[in-house]
Amino acid sequence: MPILTGHARLAGIIGWPVTHSRSPRLHGFWLERHGIDGAYVPLAVRPEDFAAAVRGLAAAGFAGANVTQPHKRAAFAICDGVEQSAQRAGAVNTLVFRDGRITGSNTDGWGFMANLRAHGVDPAAGPALLLGAGGAARAIAAVLLEARIAVTIANRTRDHAEALAHDLPDLRVLPWEQRSAALPDQALVVNATSLGMQGHPPLVLDLDRAAPGLAIADIVYVPLETPLLADAASRGLRVVEGLGMLLHQAVPGFRAWFGGQPQVDEALRRFVAADLLAGDPLPR
Ligand code: ATR
Repeated sequence: MPILTGHARLAGIIGWPVTHSRSPRLHGFWLERHGIDGAYVPLAVRPEDFAAAVRGLAAAGFAGANVTQPHKRAAFAICDGVEQSAQRAGAVNTLVFRDGRITGSNTDGWGFMANLRAHGVDPAAGPALLLGAGGAARAIAAVLLEARIAVTIANRTRDHAEALAHDLPDLRVLPWEQRSAALPDQALVVNATSLGMQGHPPLVLDLDRAAPGLAIADIVYVPLETPLLADAASRGLRVVEGLGMLLHQAVPGFRAWFGGQPQVDEALRRFVAADLLAGDPLPR
């Protein structure tokens, strides 16, 4: 832990719970690498205290904060202004406090796209099939549509997909049972469900039907290689692991609060995912 001066810049992540968050390690790594006089801390805030906590942090001179579950929608409501990314995603994950104003943005979609490109995948190569209709799926759908990509969405509970398509009318909704049948037409498949996560069942998808050159992205990163990604890799399909999205979505916030040009590279990945790589607890 670096020694702070009276000038230190401060930010953190607001969640309930927040103990599982990797963001303090992620930002802490960059702060140390760049020798920045600053700190990024976990902020466990109950839902009923959210508004008071955010106003308190702003009043106390914080530069801003990330927001995670269950606060992403409440964060939208508290902002004096929101960027288009948040408008489209209907949720805020990054707050910047400046000149007495609270500005919100959503960097999940940006992080998703940056992660694809970092894996050499051109998101605009062709149509995309998006599985899931939760908050992450919403942010990803918004950013894919903004890039003028044809997006089909399939979700276990069709009503949730329809609700998303109501807000993002260019989305095409497909029954969950037809997800494998739709594979031959796709250039990109994204798992934005919790399937494949440790303790959850795997996502069943018949990759025999995949077009050659299909890219498969997973937002799940525990484990780093989900059963879906392992299956895709064994067939020579291109795979995009979920951890990269987490790493990339942090870049805009860090720049806004602390300045500099934080890089997403293997050293950062290894530090943030040390326990997932080694199967050991995270080193302090
Ligand atoms: P997040 O905000 O992180 O995206 P979420 O809102 O809980 O998380 O969304 C989880 C997604 O995983 C949803 O699309 C959910 O489908 P439902 O809308 O039908 O709940 C999906 N999901 C979770 N468990 C699933 C399962 N066993 N089979 C299929 N989809 C599942």
